[in-house]
Amino acid sequence: MTRPVDLSAVSAYIEGLIPARDPVLQEMEARARASRFPIVGPAVGQLFYLLTRLGGARRVFELGSGFGYSTAWFAMGVRDNGGGEVTHVVWDEALSRDARAYLERLGLGGLVRFRVGEAVAELRGADGPFDIIFSDIEKDGYPASLPVIKARLAPGGLMLVDNVVWSGRVLSPAATDPDTRAIRALTRAVADDPEFTSVVVPLRDGVLLARRR
Ligand SMILES: C[S@@+](CC[C@H](N)C(=O)[O-])C[C@H]1O[C@@H](n2cnc3c(N)ncnc32)[C@H](O)[C@@H]1O
Repeated sequence: MTRPVDLSAVSAYIEGLIPARDPVLQEMEARARASRFPIVGPAVGQLFYLLTRLGGARRVFELGSGFGYSTAWFAMGVRDNGGGEVTHVVWDEALSRDARAYLERLGLGGLVRFRVGEAVAELRGADGPFDIIFSDIEKDGYPASLPVIKARLAPGGLMLVDNVVWSGRVLSPAATDPDTRAIRALTRAVADDPEFTSVVVPLRDGVLLARRR
């Protein structure tokens, strides 16, 4: 019998397998490390790139985009699919400005629309459908965002939700705070919804993948 492995070591090993990134992406990773800003990181970024390419996605909508790190991975996928549009939404003006600058430097600015505002409200007002919708908003907002995401997702489209393992807190009956409860509620609602085929990928902090029928 082997001993159980430290999952953060598994994550570090998997991240170490991702090829060297563009210097601008590396700069974004360094900023996230220095300021403890929660970006998805290179392994989940690569997963998003792959999913975008595999599904041939041309229209992607992100909720809670930060300074544009995850946006860059979707935009690279959309670019390599022949072009399209990624919507970046964050409620902080300064983060939106920073994202625009990074994506311009990556040569991806022309593929991204920048919106400053509350992400679920922006999605509600957006012209769907979208091939991929990725949510990384405040966790207590996850359950209420679900019907809006579903209504804007194309048939056969993919919903992605970050942090569904929540550092393992979703497993602990003692964790009854609003964020953990909201994450459990969203994940359970999607798992039980016959309109979705879903699975949690335990990469980094857990990513929910759900394909709409
Ligand atoms: C976890 S970070 C996003 C990281 C990004 N997905 C990445 O990997 O590069 C979430 C960001 O979205 C913002 N945010 C959270 N909830 C939001 C909401 N409902 N509407 C707009 N922005 C939101 C937060 O302030 C933060 O800047």
